Amino acid sequence: MKPPVNVVLPDLPVNVVALAAGLGTRMKSKHAKVLHRAGGLTLIEHVVRAASAITTPEHITVVIGHQREQVKQQLESTGVRFAEQTEQKGTGHAVMTCRSALESQSGLVVVLYGDCPLLSPATLQELVKRQASGDSAMTLITTRLEDPTGYGRILLGKSGKVEAIVEQKAATPEQLAIQLVNPGIYCFRAELLWQHIGELTTNNPAHEYYLTDMVEILNKAGHTVAAFEVPEAGELLGINTRVELAVADKIFRDRKVRELMLDGVTVERPETVTIDADVKIGADSIVEPFARILGRSAIGEDCKIGASSIVQNSELGAGVQIAPFTSIADSRVDAGAHIGPFARLRNGNVVGAEAHIGNFVELKNTQFAAGAKANHLAYLGDSEIGEKTNIGAGTITCNYDGVKKHRTRIGKKAFVGSNSTLVAPIDIGDGSYIGAGSVITKPVPPDALALGRAHQIVKERWAAKRKKKE
Ligand code: UD1
Ligand code: CA
Repeated sequence: MKPPVNVVLPDLPVNVVALAAGLGTRMKSKHAKVLHRAGGLTLIEHVVRAASAITTPEHITVVIGHQREQVKQQLESTGVRFAEQTEQKGTGHAVMTCRSALESQSGLVVVLYGDCPLLSPATLQELVKRQASGDSAMTLITTRLEDPTGYGRILLGKSGKVEAIVEQKAATPEQLAIQLVNPGIYCFRAELLWQHIGELTTNNPAHEYYLTDMVEILNKAGHTVAAFEVPEAGELLGINTRVELAVADKIFRDRKVRELMLDGVTVERPETVTIDADVKIGADSIVEPFARILGRSAIGEDCKIGASSIVQNSELGAGVQIAPFTSIADSRVDAGAHIGPFARLRNGNVVGAEAHIGNFVELKNTQFAAGAKANHLAYLGDSEIGEKTNIGAGTITCNYDGVKKHRTRIGKKAFVGSNSTLVAPIDIGDGSYIGAGSVITKPVPPDALALGRAHQIVKERWAAKRKKKE
């Protein structure tokens, strides 16, 4: 995500509390809702990134409960803090779990829900600015929805201040008609939040501590609550079902390809490609239809990612050409190499500059040096292939003896004939030749010819004689 520009944040300490303890029953999943992905990141990662626009990681507290270990692991590298909510007794209860850690800190507390991933940094910054410059106890984001079903409804007073939020379940028919909704993004004055949060009760249809009741509590205590209406509702979508997850995913994908296109990448039929949030692609590269570029992949300039290819957590140098239907994972491919069509690079490969890997060639944990070629039908596993070596069609490294994996080393400018079987561990020297159809079990010195196959026998006239007998 690009750092937001030209926004001056108020000089007040800001703590963010992100709620991520719920299971999310409406997802019908055994995985916690915030661990589901949209645009290539988990929902909670998106929320933490948005929060990073208004404070530093050590001031972000993520409330965890369901699958707390997985959520923690997902966020480990970000440096955020965690609070545990062992029983999920509502959004208000979740915020209460942070009280002891945060109540001594003055300034502002922003509460975000872990299922609201599209929120933009600019909107969050504006929320903080408005709260910091006004005299309300709390400012909350609102928006208008054609169909407000499921959301808490905002009750405004005559002065435009917020009087209460009513949850769908507790709303009267007149209140259900209100289209101004609560997306669940709030900014509190810290001391007032902690002073009054203990007044929440479970006196509602769900028997939960609703954070939304803070509005009435603060009003009763003589404070005001301000609304900040955001006209563009798209970024406030809360994800409760997999249908909404797909809507969010589409928005993230569209944003990402648009960003790349504006940065000089050609994307053909952009609606068909899938590019994750952290992917980088250099200018004048071309992404063909139905390509998937995932994880932390970094692609250089002037590359081509062929139709229906998958590139995952891999690095491609400048000018790399990936032909259609190729799959590359956890590998590096250097400048000018050609891969595919229908090639598979599994984990741990380094393919050197200008190398060629052709159709139905599989590589795993292999160093394939610059200018080497394996153009058709081969398996190269746990191997080192030297510069400009040619691997013939059908070559197989037998890297596994049923118990252990072994390495195959082939030097520079060697020529491995078609349909060779190289039984590892094995060393094949620089400049050597392996005759087609050989089974190689012993080392081959440099510049030698190795043949490991039965001699051919020719019996003259044999077939003709047989025919006469019949
Ligand atoms: C909430 C709001 C509703 C608002 C909607 C916007 C309340 C009472 N209602 O309803 O007004 O319109 O969000 O999407 O706040 N969570 C915890 N611990 C809990 C309960 C929830 O951490 O005990 C977390 C969940 O993991 C989730 C977030 O809080 O990320 C929101 O909870 P959810 O149950 O989805 O709230 P809604 O019913 O959508
Ligand atoms: Ca929700």
